[in-house]
Amino acid sequence: NPRDVVVIVGSLRKASLNRRLARTLIEVAPAALKLEIVEIGTLPLYNQDLDDDPPSAWTAFRERIRSADGVIFVTPEYNRSVPAPLKNAIDVGSRPYGKSAWSRKPAAVVSGSPGATGGFGANHHLRQSLVFLDMPAMQQPEAYIGHADKLFDESGRMTNDSTREFLGKVLQAYAAWLERNAA
Ligand code: FNR
Repeated sequence: NPRDVVVIVGSLRKASLNRRLARTLIEVAPAALKLEIVEIGTLPLYNQDLDDDPPSAWTAFRERIRSADGVIFVTPEYNRSVPAPLKNAIDVGSRPYGKSAWSRKPAAVVSGSPGATGGFGANHHLRQSLVFLDMPAMQQPEAYIGHADKLFDESGRMTNDSTREFLGKVLQAYAAWLERNAA
C-alpha cells in the first residue's frame, strides 16, 4: 500500500505558484507515495479559549493529519517568513497541549518564489517549528524553487523539465526518508 502523505500549501490564492508546485509533486510522485492536498484556508484562527469546544474544522484537520503517514509543506515566503495561514494550521494541529497531530510525522519542505532565493527564509523558519513539533524533516535534497513564475504554462502545468525531474528526485528521497523515520 502506498504511504498516505498530506500536502499543505502555504498560499490561499487560486493561481498560487506553490499550489502548482504541489500539483506537480502529485503528478511525479512515485508509486510508494499517495499525495493529497489538505486545505487550510477555512481553519478559524487559533485561539486557546476555543480548546474546550473546538470548531469542527479544527477537529477534522487534526484527525486528517493524525491519520497521515507524513506531511509535505509547499510554501511561499511572506516577509522572509511563513505565511500566516500556514503558521495558523501548524498551531491548530499542535494543540491541545500534549496531543499534537504533527508529532513524529516525517516531513519535507518545498518553498517556491518568483524571486531568486526560492523562499529560503520561509523554508527555514518553518523548519524551526518542525524541530519543536518533533517532525523529522528531510534535510537533502533542499528544495528552494526560485523564478517559479517562469515554470508553468497558462493552465498551470509545469513546463520546465529539469524542475519536474528535480521534484521527482525530491519525492524519491522523501519516500526513503519516510520509511526510515516512520512512526
Ligand atoms: C511576498 N512575496 C515575497 N517573495 C519572496 O521571495 N520573499 C518575501 O519575503 C516575500 N514577501 C511577500 C509578502 C507578501 C505579504 C506577499 C503577498 C508576497 C512575493 C511572493 O513570493 C509571491 O507573491 C508568490 O507568488 C506567492 O506565492 P504563491 O501565492 O504564488 O504560491
